[in-house]
Amino acid sequence: MKDEVEFVIKGVEIGDLKALHRLELECFGRDAYSELVLKLLLMDSRSIALKAITGGGSIAGFVIGRLERVEGRPVGRIYTISVDPLFRKRGVAKALMRRLEDELAARGCVEAVLEVAVDNYPALKLYESLGFEFTGILRNYYGPGRHAYRARKTLSESIIRS
Ligand SMILES: CC(C)(COP(=O)(O)OP(=O)(O)OC[C@H]1O[C@@H](n2cnc3c(N)ncnc32)[C@H](O)[C@@H]1OP(=O)(O)O)[C@@H](O)C(=O)NCCC(=O)NCCS
Repeated sequence: MKDEVEFVIKGVEIGDLKALHRLELECFGRDAYSELVLKLLLMDSRSIALKAITGGGSIAGFVIGRLERVEGRPVGRIYTISVDPLFRKRGVAKALMRRLEDELAARGCVEAVLEVAVDNYPALKLYESLGFEFTGILRNYYGPGRHAYRARKTLSESIIRS
């Protein structure tokens, strides 16, 4: 593990859109959300979008979640998380996810849900380290032969965490 990077977590602003899209493209390539989809997510009042800013003012990473209802229950769906390769394995994603979980819980979400490619080892380790359970497989979710796990986490304890 490299040294921890100094960063602060702040809410995303619409003016960050292009920088976020560049990072999304760098992290997901052909699977990246388009700039329009990111913009729609950022403008949605149910969304919570957070960025990690380094001491030098760079965006080290961002996460977007949205409050949704699943079978009548308020659930936070994680749409995307990207960390600049320059700042990986230094706790940026974990800090972003923890803050997002807290904000979702504070808005009444009882659970967080997400999908993750079965071969995305760094992401699987991230979610495992945060206590997500992998509850099922979604075959061909990202295209033919590209399967995903569905994952979930109860959020009640997040509120208690300082
Ligand atoms: C997945 C991703 C967001 C992780 O970001 P990160 O800032 O490097 O992750 P963190 O430093 O916060 O690490 C969180 C945990 O995951 C583990 N981890 C992260 N990357 C890892 C890797 N490459 N190999 C092994 N473990 C890894 C860390 O060790 C840490 O576990 P710990 O707290 O138990 O030590 C980043 O690799 C990324 O942006 N990938 C491309 C986009 C992507 O795949 N997003 C997820 C889509 S579902």
